[in-house]
Amino acid sequence: MKMAESDQIMQAAKALARGELVAFPTETVYGLGADASSAEAVARIFQAKGRPNDHPVIVHVADADAALCWARNVPEAARALMTAFWPGPLTLILERADWVDPGVSGGQSTIGLRCPSHPVAVELLEDFTRLREGRPAGIAAPSANRFGHVSPTRAEHVKQEFSQLIKQGMLVLDGGDADVGIESTIVDLSRLSSGKSPALLRPGAILPSDIEAVLGMPLAGHDSGAPRVSGALKAHYSPRTPMRLLPAQSLAGQATQWLVSHPQKRLVVVTRDPDTSGLGKLEANGRLISHTMPFGPTEYAKTLYAQLRAVDSLQADQLFWEEVPQTEAWSGVRDRLQRAAAAFE
Ligand code: TXA
Ligand code: MG
Repeated sequence: MKMAESDQIMQAAKALARGELVAFPTETVYGLGADASSAEAVARIFQAKGRPNDHPVIVHVADADAALCWARNVPEAARALMTAFWPGPLTLILERADWVDPGVSGGQSTIGLRCPSHPVAVELLEDFTRLREGRPAGIAAPSANRFGHVSPTRAEHVKQEFSQLIKQGMLVLDGGDADVGIESTIVDLSRLSSGKSPALLRPGAILPSDIEAVLGMPLAGHDSGAPRVSGALKAHYSPRTPMRLLPAQSLAGQATQWLVSHPQKRLVVVTRDPDTSGLGKLEANGRLISHTMPFGPTEYAKTLYAQLRAVDSLQADQLFWEEVPQTEAWSGVRDRLQRAAAAFE
């Protein structure tokens, strides 16, 4: 791994200022960035990803002050969350400032704002802010993957997703393996003024209870009136290998049965502990490939997407994945696994 150097980061900032796309690391996943104040630059993101135009994009900012340029009627609760968790893996949905092009919000009256902590993202935002000479600086960036695919947590993953754009000169800043590994927690605060409670739109590394502790009130779950979030589509983040989630105790039995009924085919099994699930004893002439994930939720999240990609590269016929615990600490990982498997239900 080779971290992007300062001159390369400055080049990327200049490319953004010219309206070009740049891929960059954040602590959650890699982003595909564009100047958020330029409707044409933002349109290039949608085109590159193959993402529907009505899906909003997160705007990344250097700090809370910069965030205030992009939003209006910012409630005290939002400021408290910015102070507590920024820079870091939390996105806030707020009312969009009038001057901001609706394209970045997929036409909605809200805006998603996040201040990332990855040192390369921080430097890119600093450089880009300087180039903007006092005008609001924000980098619109969804995850740097084609629509519906697994998010990238390494520069190499981005290169696999966008080889064509890279041939055409798009810069990919390398920041090593993403530290968190799953996308930011999203909290909607855009409807506080109409009496709606803050709502959790996407679980992530910052847990609902951490947020509730700062807000001093409970978070509502996702409801149908809340702003649209593409990560909230049922089938999203999916691998290409057909995937099923199974409880630990039925994994070995189901794997045995599958291998018997598919005599020519290959099965991948991903668990947290192959011994307790009884897989250690299974043998199937190389037709069973098993992988053990880290035991705790933080380490697990860090390797989750790389593992989904690794499974796809095996080109096996079926993937059985052990369910994770029902506890809050696992909520982000559980959400991504359920969506990954939902594509095959
Ligand atoms: O960790 C992350 O959030 C990563 C990194 C790159 O920052 N970004 C990311 O972006 O996950 P993306 O576009 O793949 O997911 C962002 C989610 C989308 O589901 C989008 O719909 C939602 O945030 N979002 C953005 N702006 C919004 C808005 N104004 N209202 C509702 N949802 C919004
Ligand atoms: Mg995404």
